[in-house]
Amino acid sequence: MKALVLAGGSGTRLRPLSHTMAKQLIPVAGRPVLMHCLADLAEIGVTEVGMIIGARGEETKKAVGDGADFGLKVTYIPQPAPLGLAHCVKLARGFLGEDDFVMYLGDNILADGIADAAAEFARNRPDAQIVLTRVANPREFGVAELDADGRIVALAEKPDRPRSDLAMTGVYFFTPAVHEAVEAIRPSARGELEITDALSWMLDHGRDVRATEFLGYWKDTGRVDDVLEVNRVLMERLKGSVRGEVDAASTLRGEVVVEPGARITASTVVGPAVIGAGTQVSGSHIGPYTTLGRDCTLLGAGIEYSIVLDGVSVRHVEGLHGSMIGREADITAATARTRRLVIGDHAKVEVL
Ligand code: DAU
Repeated sequence: MKALVLAGGSGTRLRPLSHTMAKQLIPVAGRPVLMHCLADLAEIGVTEVGMIIGARGEETKKAVGDGADFGLKVTYIPQPAPLGLAHCVKLARGFLGEDDFVMYLGDNILADGIADAAAEFARNRPDAQIVLTRVANPREFGVAELDADGRIVALAEKPDRPRSDLAMTGVYFFTPAVHEAVEAIRPSARGELEITDALSWMLDHGRDVRATEFLGYWKDTGRVDDVLEVNRVLMERLKGSVRGEVDAASTLRGEVVVEPGARITASTVVGPAVIGAGTQVSGSHIGPYTTLGRDCTLLGAGIEYSIVLDGVSVRHVEGLHGSMIGREADITAATARTRRLVIGDHAKVEVL
C-alpha cells in the first residue's frame, strides 16, 4: 500500500503563523505535525509516500527531505492551488498507479496511530474506508450518518444540520476504485473538489464504502487553540533526556528534553518541556507543557503551556501562558508607559 499525504492548502485559520510557514510544520511536542503523520505511516509498513505540496512547498521539502529518517521514500507532487482533497487524488494519479493507498491529511494528529484502521482495511478490503470519531462540533467537519448495523447511509461536508456527531478524520483508505469517482465529481459551492463528494459518489454507485471508528485522541490542528491542546496531550507521553548543559543553579522537574547545544542557567524548567537545540535559557521559569524551538533566547522570562518557534527572543517578560510565538519574534518588556508593537497581519495580542 502507498500513502498520499496532503501538505498543501492555505491554512487561513492558523494565521498569522501560516502567512510565513506551512501549517503542517508547526511543532507539537517538539516535532512538526507532519512528522507525526509520517511516523504513523512508517508504523503500518508503508514505504512509498506521495506528498502534495503547495505555495510553501520548498520549506516542506527542506524539513522532510527524501523521508529516509522515517524509512520512507517521499515523492513530491506540487499542487498549483488548493483546489480540494479530491483534486489531490487526481494530481497523484500517476504516482498512485493501480495501488491501494491511505490518504492522510498532514494537519491531522491521531495520537494512537492508524494501525488498527489499516489492519481492518487490509482484512476486508472495501473500495474505501473512512475513519470516524465522535466530536462536539460536527458542523466543522465531514459528517457520516450510519445505520444500526454501522453501514454508511450518507456523508456531508460541514453540514449546517449534522445528522450525527461522527466526524471524518483526515485518514482515508482507498482501492483504485476511487479514481473513477474523483473524475466524475464537480467542484462544490466553495469551489473545491471534495473527497466527501467522491465518497458519496461511490456510495451512490454501489461501491463498498465502510466506516471504522477511531476511539483514541484525534485533532485537526486547524486552529491555534487546537495546536496548543494537541501539544498538551502529546507532551504527556514525553520522556526526558538532557543532552545540553544545565548549571548547578538550575532545577529540572518532571520530563524535560534538553537538546544538544541548549544551555540552561539559573532557571527552573518544569516538565513536560522541550528546550530546543542551541537555545539559551537564563534566569527564567519554563513549563509545564512548553516547547521552545531552536536557537531561542529566554532571559528573565516566564512561560508555560506554550509553543515557541525557532529563533525567538523573550527578555524580561513573565506570565506568558497559552501562547504561540512565531519564528524570530522578539519580545521585550516595555520600559515606559508607552508600548511599541511591530506585529504582522492577523496577530492576536493581549495587553494589560
Ligand atoms: O480534518 C478532517 C477534515 O478535513 C474532514 O472532516 C473534512 O471532511 C475534510 O474536508 C477536511 O476538512 P478541512 O476543511 O479541515 O480541510 P483543509 O482545507 O484544512 O485541508 C486538509 C489538509 O489538506 C491540510 O493539511 C491542507 C491539505 N490540502 C487541502 C486542500 C483543500 C491540500 O494539500 N490541498 C488542497 O487542495
